[in-house]
Amino acid sequence: MPGAYSPKTNALYMPLQNTFMQAEIINQAGADGQSNESFGLSWTTHLSPEANLLGRLQAISVETGKTLWQYEQRASMLNVLATGNDLIFAGDSDRRFRAFHAATGEIIWETVLGGSVTGHPISYQVDGIQYVAVSTGSSSLTPVLNDFVGITAPQNINHLYVFALPGKQLSRQQLPFSQARQKLKNVVPYFNQNQADRGKLSYQQHCASCHGKDFVGGSAPAMTGEAFFQRWDERSAGDLFDRIKLTMPWGAADSLSRDTVLDILTYWYAHHGYRANVRTLPDDPEQLKRLPAVPSANLRME
Ligand code: HEC
Repeated sequence: MPGAYSPKTNALYMPLQNTFMQAEIINQAGADGQSNESFGLSWTTHLSPEANLLGRLQAISVETGKTLWQYEQRASMLNVLATGNDLIFAGDSDRRFRAFHAATGEIIWETVLGGSVTGHPISYQVDGIQYVAVSTGSSSLTPVLNDFVGITAPQNINHLYVFALPGKQLSRQQLPFSQARQKLKNVVPYFNQNQADRGKLSYQQHCASCHGKDFVGGSAPAMTGEAFFQRWDERSAGDLFDRIKLTMPWGAADSLSRDTVLDILTYWYAHHGYRANVRTLPDDPEQLKRLPAVPSANLRME
């Protein structure tokens, strides 16, 4: 896992794992037991004895070799990026993606992505706005590391995430998705009552244990209320459909049929103020892309 160097602090930021390796020399004798002898190495990796924190992000001064700060946690730390304005971006195997202050190690921002943050973060600038992009997905190592500390993060979540950094204020037109949102505003989804009723049953069966009755939240975040609306405001029904289909139910991602997820989506709409009609909402990704994920405020029942 590559670390990063910042010329501003003249420090290295290294993602480290608290593990040790048990290695053994193996001698593979030739067929006659003597000739063609070759030696190899067999090894296994383990969590260090008495350790329960696996991951560490360590800032090391290049000039003195001294540790400036370190951050430790249960999940393993993955790839690191240092930016020109003193931010250290680092992902971990438990789906967290964070920005640390380069000089102090303070966590300035964090979010939870769909899967282990196995990609290497990059940063770039377009029209004066700085972006940070990172991908999630499976790797051969992260499930092993997660096993050491009993973390079960979904694998095979092959997503690319792009974040805009605050600074220069983004105008509404510059915001990602806003163009699509202009078109989304006036579109009202249609679905029929049967679909929404089926969706309610499926929600109760597959989602309510974590997201609570009627989306109010529980061990998992609420799927209603201002914070949820804000997060999904600029996005389409297709985005919400994909999020549910590909990452939920938690621990059994991608196990529900597209029709079941579609039913749950119509139940979500019905519960948030859209009226059922006669036509069913079809499984049509192009159409879902044109529908808003979140009904406009005057339609919402809270
Ligand atoms: C075992 C618990 C569990 C079950 C069951 C579950 N979820 Fe989740 N869900 C979570 C957790 C934990 C998160 C937050 C972590 C994450 O973002 O992946 C989450 C996140 C979400 C999000 C993103 C929320 C946001 O604020 O952006 C949506 C949407 C969602 N779940 C929908 C569903 C639906 C629909 C079902 C049923 C098909 C479901 N979930 C079943 C645990 C669960």
